[in-house]
Amino acid sequence: MLKIALLCTVATAVVLYLLISSISTRRRHAVAAKQLGCRPAPTEYNPDPLGLVNLFKTLRANRKSQILEYIRGVFDDVSLRMNKTVYSYDTNILGDRVFFTCDPRNIQALLATQFKDFELGKIRTGAFAPLLGHGIFSADGKQWEHSRALLRPQFSRDQVKDLDLEEKHVQNLLRALPVKADSWTSTTDIQPLISRFTMDSASEFLFGESTNIQLSALSEEAAAKNAEDRAFVESFEACQDRMAKALLLNEFYFVILTKKHRDDCRLCHRYIDRFVHKALGRDSKQDPVESSKKEKYVFLESLVNETRDPIEIRNQLLSILLAGRDTTASLLSFLFLMLVQHPEVFNKLRSLIIEDFGTFKSPLNLTFANLKACSYLQWCINETLRLYPSVPLNGRRCTRDTSLPFGGGEDGLSPVFIPAGTEIAYLVYVMQRQPDFWGPDADIFRPERWQNHKYGFEYLPFNGGPRICLGQQFALTKAAYVTVRLLQRFDKLDGSSVPPGPIKWAVTLTGKPKDGVRLRLHVAAED
Ligand code: HEM
Ligand SMILES: *[C@@H]1O[C@H](CO)[C@@H](O)[C@H](O)[C@H]1NC(C)=O
Ligand SMILES: *[C@@H]1O[C@H](CO)[C@@H](O)[C@H](O)[C@H]1NC(C)=O
Ligand SMILES: *[C@@H]1O[C@H](CO)[C@@H](O)[C@H](O)[C@H]1NC(C)=O
Ligand SMILES: *[C@@H]1O[C@H](CO)[C@@H](O)[C@H](O)[C@H]1NC(C)=O
Repeated sequence: MLKIALLCTVATAVVLYLLISSISTRRRHAVAAKQLGCRPAPTEYNPDPLGLVNLFKTLRANRKSQILEYIRGVFDDVSLRMNKTVYSYDTNILGDRVFFTCDPRNIQALLATQFKDFELGKIRTGAFAPLLGHGIFSADGKQWEHSRALLRPQFSRDQVKDLDLEEKHVQNLLRALPVKADSWTSTTDIQPLISRFTMDSASEFLFGESTNIQLSALSEEAAAKNAEDRAFVESFEACQDRMAKALLLNEFYFVILTKKHRDDCRLCHRYIDRFVHKALGRDSKQDPVESSKKEKYVFLESLVNETRDPIEIRNQLLSILLAGRDTTASLLSFLFLMLVQHPEVFNKLRSLIIEDFGTFKSPLNLTFANLKACSYLQWCINETLRLYPSVPLNGRRCTRDTSLPFGGGEDGLSPVFIPAGTEIAYLVYVMQRQPDFWGPDADIFRPERWQNHKYGFEYLPFNGGPRICLGQQFALTKAAYVTVRLLQRFDKLDGSSVPPGPIKWAVTLTGKPKDGVRLRLHVAAED
């Protein structure tokens, strides 16, 4: 009896304590919000207190590859309810407030001007840690500063502009696109070819040895030889899928991190560690013959020069592979979809490419500087990344009670209070298609809009502020190079197999076209 009474007293005390601390937190927030001149933002319609219905709808949209359209729809719904265009709204995921925004002014604050108020946060770093440890993609604060300082020099080197490495992989890509007697290839989904291409080229740049999965896809014999490479790629992709799902569950991200996930991570680690140990061993021997005949730039070797910690090297290598491979493949896939849907753009781009860089068999002047100088090519790439940003949605977590400058009050012009621990989702996809920033044809692929466009934070495919993408130049150069080589080789595209209507996305950590890129290509005659 006494025990029960005691238990009741303790329970009541706990409930009271929670209640009082919640009330006092709320009061503290209200005072802080008032001091900062904040007003509430509109909220998503939410029928239950835990946001279960909305979470269910989000997960269902995700399963049907419609998550971006779904979130854009929520912005539209809230706008309709408020009778004005809404760029920021509050919602509730499993009982926690999450702030959604596509307002460039808020995103600029989040990433640049109020950088210290926000971090990747424990959900992102927790979801990524089993695979990436505390590599640059899953580190905050001092840890991130350290990673950034370590990796930055590797990207500013001239080697990033070295295009010789690409050509071999382009040749392997073309081996998967044989032409028939009528000079057309058969109808082929080039998206997997592009993914393999970026894997081969990224691995050679990072580890010094290519996975050569383009070759293993071509022959049984090579497939057997490269079984380990293929197993790695499969596990790596499976891990990324789970990490993306984990992020959708917000504070409950950990339920996705199963034993299967840890097994896949371990397989990836073992695969990478081979290269790491080899590089560490080679380095300590300082074989003068090796080093004098070596002229190719290898990311890993230059990293080994900076740190001897094998786990650190592994984490950074995997992070960069994750950052660089699918993003570049996504850009190339969507670019070819745009070219196949817009023959006039294809023709114009191709003739400019031939003018500047010659034909496939006799290429001229294919340098970093000349690729940059080919404006129409750059416009096409920028326009693709506007409509199809490789990282279409992203997030940050608030580190201390603060505010974001816009979205509060009737007119949306007041700041919004953001207490410590709030997750912010920012939608580059929605922002880069807003008619208010891009005009009434915002949803249309029109490279010419770049002729006079002065953009600010409303164009953000590579992120902004201190955590801006380190690989931007690298990725843009590589994509431009491959595009030039393919357009030199092929003079017509037949996209009659591309399903009509808006292109569907499959989104994990990065986006890609859900139905692939099915087309036929016509080889150009060359004497
Ligand atoms: C079209 C291609 C690419 C796009 C659209 C892209 C986009 C992005 C975006 C949006 C971020 C920010 C992610 C976040 O903070 O949550 C990022 C970060 C990063 N990217 Fe890229 N990226 C591309 C290619 C590459 C390549 C090829 C590399 C390396 C070889 C690379 C290396 C990195 C690194 C290291 C970071 C982390 C920077 C940091 O947190 O300090 N990216 N990228
Ligand atoms: C909605 O806003 C417009 C102008 O922005 C105004 O003319 C209209 O009366 C408003 N409608 C309602 C129902 O508030
Ligand atoms: C290694 O570091 C030293 C000194 O920091 C530098 O001189 C050398 O060029 C570096 N080597 C490579 C391969 O990056
Ligand atoms: C391209 O190369 C040719 C000959 O190598 C040269 O005459 C021409 O000026 C170059 N063009 C550009 C744009 O660099
Ligand atoms: C294309 O976008 C990049 C940033 O992604 C920018 O640096 C470049 O100036 C843009 N090109 C043009 C022609 O506007």
